[in-house]
Amino acid sequence: MKARPEDFRTALAGKHIAMFFEKPSLRTRLTFEAGICGLGGSVSFVDQRHERLDARETLSDIAHNVERWVSGIVLRTFAHETVEGMAEFANVPVINALSEVEHPCQALADYFTLHEKFGNLKKITLAYVGDGNNVTHSLLLTAALLGSKIRIATPKGYGPSPQILSDAHDVAKDTGASIELMTDPHKAVRGADAVYTDAWVSMGHEHETEQRADIFPPYQVNDQLMAGAAPHAVFMHCLPAHRNEEVTDSVIDSLRSIVFDQAENRMHIQKAILAMLCGKVRQPRSSHA
Ligand code: CP
Ligand code: NVA
Repeated sequence: MKARPEDFRTALAGKHIAMFFEKPSLRTRLTFEAGICGLGGSVSFVDQRHERLDARETLSDIAHNVERWVSGIVLRTFAHETVEGMAEFANVPVINALSEVEHPCQALADYFTLHEKFGNLKKITLAYVGDGNNVTHSLLLTAALLGSKIRIATPKGYGPSPQILSDAHDVAKDTGASIELMTDPHKAVRGADAVYTDAWVSMGHEHETEQRADIFPPYQVNDQLMAGAAPHAVFMHCLPAHRNEEVTDSVIDSLRSIVFDQAENRMHIQKAILAMLCGKVRQPRSSHA
């Protein structure tokens, strides 16, 4: 998809995709829209910031309308249950474009970016430092599926959800992934190949801003913290960044920063997801064909 975009110009020809977003977005909205157009499809964006998706009618009624018109639904929601409900009711594919619990397209783009930088993902260690949020959950699950190594350092009480952690550990048993949880950010980054952080206050948690501002400063990714990582270590962030809060300008603007590669790869990876789920995928030819 990334190396030969011209080969996939008609992968979504004749397909229409609907996007419903309850929260703001720069990257996710534009990378989906550009990606869908790049595959020859068309797209409607529905701004749901003024009211939750199911405020006017039930999710099931919405699903049974929308599935008659489109080939796929992309959702950015507050409640994770809204994504799960839509996936249950609609008979077209539903893609999570960020919920309270997960941000899978982000994590897939991030591990694709790491694959471009380092090759074998089983050998690399990603250190995530900060709030145990939706992005942390998806990085954790993706690392587990890929058999990679992930260390997560959060303040006490801000770690990943026990359910996601248990799911990740179950997957890791089969893939050989290594998952370590801790509260010390310096221990987490020691010798790591990549250092990742995200906002201290995620969308929907704005009322916790003051309380979190007292707790999170030791988790800032700055030059001193980066000095503990491997000499070749890269800096990662899903963006938007809150400069000089969770990351200093000196780190995010440094040569180690790959944040815009991550942002670019959102589009390529989402094109692959859309083509697989909603498009005409080229099936490998069977030996009997
Ligand atoms: N990283 C990310 O999802 O960015 P947006 O909130 O701008 O979509
Ligand atoms: N954790 C952040 C990610 C933004 C892309 C949030 O949910 O606001």
